[in-house]
Amino acid sequence: MSELKRVIVERRSVKQISSRKIDRSLVEEIIELAAFAPFHSKVEPWHVYLIEDAEQKEKLVRAVAAAKNDGASLGQVKEMLERKFLTAPVILMVTSAVFQDAKKDFESVAATSAFIQNLQLAAWESGVGTIWRTPKFLFQPAFREALQIGEEETVMGLLPLTLLPEEKPDPKPRRELKDFLHEL
Ligand SMILES: Cc1cc2nc3c(=O)[nH]c(=O)nc-3n(C[C@H](O)[C@H](O)[C@H](O)COP(=O)(O)O)c2cc1C
Repeated sequence: MSELKRVIVERRSVKQISSRKIDRSLVEEIIELAAFAPFHSKVEPWHVYLIEDAEQKEKLVRAVAAAKNDGASLGQVKEMLERKFLTAPVILMVTSAVFQDAKKDFESVAATSAFIQNLQLAAWESGVGTIWRTPKFLFQPAFREALQIGEEETVMGLLPLTLLPEEKPDPKPRRELKDFLHEL
């Protein structure tokens, strides 16, 4: 099997997050590779926000608290985010441009989804695991507003990065081809 085929088949979403440091240069290389995703009409719609140091993680905690708006203390929100996000040495928040036009907005989300999958594959190949997470709080306007992200961007997901463990999870089985390949 070629390296490309192997990475496509073997990549898994990694839920077990470790705090081991990941070089900034590797993170940037992975993001640059992801940007070779296809896009339409000269618009590369993706943006990536790095959440890395204590101040940036604190901003994330405050934004989640604003979105949840259920009276939970910052400490409680922090605890809730610890295992899935804050433990990671780097969390990427990916957004996509919004044009208030159905076709352009569809293409924007489609291109940024391709970008995210490229990112997941490039990360895996470099020994870095991630998982595309879309918790409910991302879709609350208060979350975006707290992070000063305008209506011209939609948040596509949070991706914590983690060094891959020695023992990688097995590939997740997929539906058989006959279940989704149809004769028109
Ligand atoms: C748009 C999108 C959103 C996702 N959101 C979540 C999420 O919020 N929580 C989660 O555990 N996994 C999430 N995932 C990851 C899927 O659970 C995972 O990709 C799927 O189970 C297939 O497993 P694999 O990626 O290991 O092949 C998301 C995946 C996609 C494509």
